[in-house]
Amino acid sequence: MVYKVGIIGGGRMGTHHARAYSLNASTRVVAVADTDDENRELFAKRFDAAPYETYEEMLAQEPLDIVGVILPVKFNAAAVVAAANSGAKAIFCEKPMTAKLSDADHMVSVCEERDVVFAAGVIPRNYPEYWKARDMLEADEIGEVRTINIYDPNGQGGCHGINLALMYAFDADVQWAVGSVGGDAFSNDDGDGTLNGIGGYFKFANGIEVFSHTRPGVRTRASESGQGIEVIASHGLIWNDYDGLHISKAQTGYQPGERARLKELTGFFQDTRNISERGYDADGWRLPTPGMAASVQALVTALESGSTPRMSTGQSLRKSLEICIALRQSARQDHIPVTLPLSDRSLAMYPVPSRWNFKKEILGTQAYMEQLASWTLDG
Ligand SMILES: NC(=O)c1ccc[n+]([C@@H]2O[C@H](COP(=O)([O-])OP(=O)(O)OC[C@H]3O[C@@H](n4cnc5c(N)ncnc54)[C@H](O)[C@@H]3O)[C@@H](O)[C@H]2O)c1
Repeated sequence: MVYKVGIIGGGRMGTHHARAYSLNASTRVVAVADTDDENRELFAKRFDAAPYETYEEMLAQEPLDIVGVILPVKFNAAAVVAAANSGAKAIFCEKPMTAKLSDADHMVSVCEERDVVFAAGVIPRNYPEYWKARDMLEADEIGEVRTINIYDPNGQGGCHGINLALMYAFDADVQWAVGSVGGDAFSNDDGDGTLNGIGGYFKFANGIEVFSHTRPGVRTRASESGQGIEVIASHGLIWNDYDGLHISKAQTGYQPGERARLKELTGFFQDTRNISERGYDADGWRLPTPGMAASVQALVTALESGSTPRMSTGQSLRKSLEICIALRQSARQDHIPVTLPLSDRSLAMYPVPSRWNFKKEILGTQAYMEQLASWTLDG
């Protein structure tokens, strides 16, 4: 089966998604909806896709299996809901998913009511290596997860650090959170100089604790990049670093309380150091990142098997956003514990303006079009 894909938003990231769909034998880009004439025409030519000025028209006219929502974030909620109501089997929305909790609720509930697979975000949670580590946890190979350390300012609604913590806490619900922010806790904006880093402590219903550090030091396990995660289990440790994911295991027969001799397992995970060094392929196209290609494959596998996609989802990004907002609400009230779910669903956390708005308006047409041209050798 070849799944028909329609892209809403054929800009910089929309082009990246589309190239990955073109390279996957199970997907084909057939249509694009984009309000910008220049972007729409370039995309339609590059992918031989039917062009539409609005997504409403595209969704009404094209029988699509997968809809990519790759828009300025402020438009995501309405586009995801429209795509879910159109009869598509799956939606793959970029991150951050949205700003307001009520919008996140609506996006998730419409997808669930319509039985639509809702993938969201191209992030490490989508890499097969991270799922291999989770499979090892599920197979009880390094014991029970006790504590998770996050080193990440948790911008974009916690879609990196908090979302990974959720993954290794088996997407349990969070009971309560105590938070702190690096900037003004009363800001609704997650960028520098506003909230400026969101962290604290939260606890999952399955007992797993999370410490989220906004200021990593040089000797934190997840350092080098200054961002990452450390999952501490009763018989081992999983962490990511600038060169990828690692796992260490205590010696056979280790009993909690003894001094553990941790041994790193080698050859399990791909070294991702050169992940950003991407050239052009024989067709003159810039290579998609391994994460992008893995995301498309994870979505295809989910559609074929009828299982939950092994990637970041709308459900996990909604939870991440809610945890971030709970941490901020705690900081607003002198760091009192805040219980979840939050009752006020009008609460919001906005990403930086370059994500919320159309980037061409921010970068200027010339700089923007140069970036779009760089996807192919002949521009
Ligand atoms: N996962 C990642 O690594 C990553 C990286 C960059 C961006 N992103 C996310 O991807 C999304 C898009 O980013 P981008 O850099 O491609 O943005 P962009 O501004 O280049 O592209 C947005 C596209 O949407 C079109 N558009 C705007 N309003 C529209 C509407 N109402 N209907 C249809 N089309 C419309 C624009 O014309 C443009 O072509 C953002 O959510 C961003 O946060 C993710």
